[in-house]
Amino acid sequence: MNILVTGGAGYIGSITCVQLIAAGHRPIILDSLVNAKAEVVNRIEQVSGQRPVFVQADVRDRARLVQTLREHAVDAVIHFAGLKAVGESVAQPWRYYDNNVQGSLVLIDAMREVGIQTLVFSSSATVYAETLDQPLHEGSVISSNSPYGRTKLMAEQIFSDVVAAEPTWSITALRYFNPVGAHPSACLGEDPQGVPNNLMPFIAQVAVGRRSALHIFGNDYPTPDGTGVRDYIHVMDLADGHLAALRYAHGRPGHHVFNLGSGRGLSVLELLSAFGRACGKSLPYEFSPRRPGDLAAFWANPSLAEELLNWRVQRSLDDMCADSWRWQSQNPNGYESS
Ligand code: NAD
Ligand code: WQD
Repeated sequence: MNILVTGGAGYIGSITCVQLIAAGHRPIILDSLVNAKAEVVNRIEQVSGQRPVFVQADVRDRARLVQTLREHAVDAVIHFAGLKAVGESVAQPWRYYDNNVQGSLVLIDAMREVGIQTLVFSSSATVYAETLDQPLHEGSVISSNSPYGRTKLMAEQIFSDVVAAEPTWSITALRYFNPVGAHPSACLGEDPQGVPNNLMPFIAQVAVGRRSALHIFGNDYPTPDGTGVRDYIHVMDLADGHLAALRYAHGRPGHHVFNLGSGRGLSVLELLSAFGRACGKSLPYEFSPRRPGDLAAFWANPSLAEELLNWRVQRSLDDMCADSWRWQSQNPNGYESS
């Protein structure tokens, strides 16, 4: 299939493009490069042996979107394009609603004009409300405590309403848990700008000497070792989840929702110690106060995706750390030096 991949130059999108090519699909990347580098397209070619079409455009640019969908005879869309920093969304909510909600609306509008009705959407575990009832399943209560999270909830709601209004659509929301790791070639990985917000890239930058120590946000949570517990998923498994979702959803109308996670919760200290094994040294850390808005513990019940998509994670915690370390050590400044 010809697949439009919005945000395809980003962390998860780029690796999904490699897996799409490996499965015989043709990705067409549309990305504004607001949070990515053009070098990513060269890296995708290097890894997959095929250069994807790359259109530098904003997903809110309806005319470019319609033109791209037509010109490349697109069969289905995977919609990664969006802003994702929770703290920034609190400081600049208007940017998040415009980019993530308006972007999704313009995409639907352009797809309607061209007559394309298969869409896979990057949602997030952040749409779930805080609850002690773990693991989270697709029917768990939803509600979000950040503007970023609310953009994901709103987009899911919009897509569900679109399917209710025009039941021939097939729209799948994939609720990712915590994506980590890199492509095993070390050519593609996460390249955050400035100080990383997320745990794994921060640890990797400590390991490579760019940061002096990890600050662990809170050691008094009601978890086995007092640090926060999350469900980390290898980005390669996540990418494969998109292929499984496409296989399932193409030609199957409806609004589908799946958790993509491992089903296992890991603490900050457990992840840090696994990374230490991967890089061969123990990494410095200090305890800091809790980060506002953080939850103590959540992880996925991935059984719906196992049952219907025939998908489950294949990669271990050690794979996540080894691949993340290989990427970070071979690209200490991310894509910058290329
Ligand atoms: P990323 O920032 O690396 O990728 C997003 C890509 O979208 C970037 O390349 C960026 O340049 C592009 N983009 C953003 N706004 C755009 C716009 N208006 N038009 C065109 N391109 C635009 O992030 P990622 O980690 O790869 O995340 C991909 C998607 O998955 C996002 O929607 C994110 O919210 C969602 N998600 C990410 C995580 C995570 O922890 N990484 C977890 C759950 C959900
Ligand atoms: C994981 C754990 C922190 C950094 C975020 C978004 C969520 C989703 C995934 C997009 C927590 C601790 C972290 C650090 C630390 N993104 N930590 N020191 O918060 O689960 O989820 O990314 O949808 O929406 O909120 O991920 O990697 O930031 O944190 O101690 O320097 O690591 O407190 O327990 P989080 P994270």
